[in-house]
Amino acid sequence: MAPLADEPLVLGIETSCDETGVGVVRGTTLLADAVASSVDEHARFGGVVPEVASRAHLEAMVPTIERALATAGVSARDLDGIAVTAGPGLAGALLVGVSAAKAYAYALGKPLYGVNHLASHICVDQLEHGPLPEPTMALLVSGGHSSLLLAPDITADVRPLGATIDDAAGEAFDKIARVLQLGFPGGPVIDRLAREGDPAAIAFPRGLTGPRDAAYDFSFSGLKTSVARWIEARRAAGEEVPVRDVAASFQEAVVDVLTRKAVRACKDEGVDHLMIGGGVAANSRLRAMAEERCARAGITLRVPRPGLCTDNGAMVAALGAEMVARGRSASAFDLSADSSLPVTETHVPADAAHDAVHAAAHAHVHAHTVRERKGN
Ligand code: KG4
Ligand code: ZN
Repeated sequence: MAPLADEPLVLGIETSCDETGVGVVRGTTLLADAVASSVDEHARFGGVVPEVASRAHLEAMVPTIERALATAGVSARDLDGIAVTAGPGLAGALLVGVSAAKAYAYALGKPLYGVNHLASHICVDQLEHGPLPEPTMALLVSGGHSSLLLAPDITADVRPLGATIDDAAGEAFDKIARVLQLGFPGGPVIDRLAREGDPAAIAFPRGLTGPRDAAYDFSFSGLKTSVARWIEARRAAGEEVPVRDVAASFQEAVVDVLTRKAVRACKDEGVDHLMIGGGVAANSRLRAMAEERCARAGITLRVPRPGLCTDNGAMVAALGAEMVARGRSASAFDLSADSSLPVTETHVPADAAHDAVHAAAHAHVHAHTVRERKGN
């Protein structure tokens, strides 16, 4: 469908981790999605190095913005707003995006929208499958987060139902890949090897699925230890490690828990749409099992294509465009990057009344977010 000219034209900037993403969106139509990744520079460290990421963002920022505008075939003067990830994420990395967004918005005289990274991950699906149903249940699984979120209004009301209490789902994939010496990032290679393995070969534990465990929280650290011990025992006995079976069985344990809890949350909350986003949403087994379990429960599943699941600028532009369309207030030019921005803060509006709400929300959710993004 051709975009309507009166729908908001927004540029979005994402720099919360290792991807410099710049997207251009008109309403719910994607016009450009330029991404420059520094992932190769982190590979030899086995994880994202914040200082390396910040420097790479700085170098990639202006060329990536220019590339996105050229691909979209629009001039910066035509924009109705500039959106940027204000948090959560790596502080130094976020700062580069926020500073760039401020500079462009100020120089061009355009409204600035500091938005939440997690809400953006959900909103991006509008570019693929049209307007989000209200409410939507979202399962966000990446290297930095694993959350179950209920979103009655993606621009103003996102509620955390559960999150990981230790490692993020993608982090677990990365760590197991490291133990198996498969390189970084681990998700794609484990996904590929698992297709040739037996998911029932080894019964790895399903974290936090006991009757007294928190229904919507996740834990992958016990699973990680269990897989590592299993591999060590094989190696100590001089036996060959069946890499494909380990990959398939590990992946099955992660995917089983993720889909089970997401479907349960939909049923409990009476929500008939589930969206899955974040880098791990690219996982083929996660997609297949979610499809199967949602179909059985009468839930419509929405998963954006892999390129929109991993961090990108289009998702930020998508949420920015929705903010403009719904008349949400813009951010002030003293907008700061907030590495632990609570998920309940869908954006950072300029009005003073908001400050009290922001402070209260921070006090409640801060501990959770910090725990969630802890790297180890
Ligand atoms: O969203 P993302 O690009 O960056 C953030 O962490 O925010 O997600 C990257 C994570 C990595 O941990 C990577 O191993 C994982 O997503 N990942 C996958 C797959 N593709 C990427 N995990 C499982 N299966 C995949 N196919
Ligand atoms: Zn992300």
